Amino acid sequence: SNRHNEARGALIVLEGLDRSGKTSQSGRLLSYLAGLGYPVESWRFPDRDTSVGQMISSYLSNQSQLDDHTIHLLFSANRWEKRSLMEAKLKSGTSLIVDRYSYSGVAFSAAKGLDIEWCKAPEVGLLAPDLVAYLDIPPEKAAERGGYGGERYEQLEFQKNVAHHYKMLSDASWKMIDACLPMEDVEKQLKEMVLDCVTSCQKGKSISQLWL
Ligand code: TYD
Repeated sequence: SNRHNEARGALIVLEGLDRSGKTSQSGRLLSYLAGLGYPVESWRFPDRDTSVGQMISSYLSNQSQLDDHTIHLLFSANRWEKRSLMEAKLKSGTSLIVDRYSYSGVAFSAAKGLDIEWCKAPEVGLLAPDLVAYLDIPPEKAAERGGYGGERYEQLEFQKNVAHHYKMLSDASWKMIDACLPMEDVEKQLKEMVLDCVTSCQKGKSISQLWL
């Protein structure tokens, strides 16, 4: 139908601590939606392929030092440089499953002691997600999963602080998922939420901006 041709894609964001399972779940959601015939791509932030992303990557692997405010603004710039492409994809009907977004930006920087409002300011005007799914895992459990690769933020005490800031940022619209459940159960819950979200965007829900 005509409506279907004009239907926009959904902006779906997965958030959670390091090792909460976001990356495997975003792969599963990608195949799920693609299998149902929806145009869909999986994205992640930081996007390490851009030149800003390479500065971020070198900072995360401790190959460069940057002031906390500076790296915060780089993470934000890395989202701004993808904003117009993001909008074009959504408007052309492609849904995006995004592994980390502005909430990571604020939670990680605020966990270092930066002011939350200051952290939110450069995110204002980015596209607002249609769904934020938070993979909720106690920091101790995430640490037990192993595979903290030694990047800058992969330490238990810091992750506890990040978890605290995520909770402060969350609102009633976030979908909280118990990430300690078996992967299949997490996957099942996510698929339902995501399908709901894609359907409501198709029906004409408009795109809004952060932070509302
Ligand atoms: P990510 O690439 O998702 O981690 P991994 O390499 O383990 O897959 O993210 C790298 C780190 O960057 C992660 O610890 C979260 C942090 N981060 C921020 O501090 N600010 C941000 O805006 C984003 C997107 C991530």
